[in-house]
Amino acid sequence: MIDVDDAKLDEMLGAARQIMRRAYAPYSGFSVGAALLNEDGTIRSGVNIENASYPLSVCAERNAVAAMMLAGQRRIVAVAVTTDADRATPPCGGCRQVLWEFGEPETPVVAEGAGGVRSRWRLGELLPDAFGPDDLA
Ligand code: THU
Repeated sequence: MIDVDDAKLDEMLGAARQIMRRAYAPYSGFSVGAALLNEDGTIRSGVNIENASYPLSVCAERNAVAAMMLAGQRRIVAVAVTTDADRATPPCGGCRQVLWEFGEPETPVVAEGAGGVRSRWRLGELLPDAFGPDDLA
């Protein structure tokens, strides 16, 4: 397992913030960037993509998961999320479930809002008693 130190989390937040500029969020005005660290040490990122048919909008985290899959990666080692909100925004409930599929309870999730405000969790904290692949075994 690769080491997820503070420098790596900084790098991931930088990647998320950089890609956040490509968010398509004309309806909410709430741009989100996400970056996932994979087992091979690469970082895959995504942005939220909204739609005039609002429910079809897709969150940044889930688009980052799609990018990861296209790159042939299946395990998430760490998650970073950036917004311009006053507090560091955690992944929404649906994204927590999707991240759970490819992560571990101990997977670090770090978020950064406006002015560099940060929060950090473990995926298992964000989705306690989760339903997952093992429940179908
Ligand atoms: N959004 C994300 O991209 N990730 C989250 O975890 C929370 C919400 C997006 C969806 C929508 O485009 C906008 O933020 C407002 O909800």
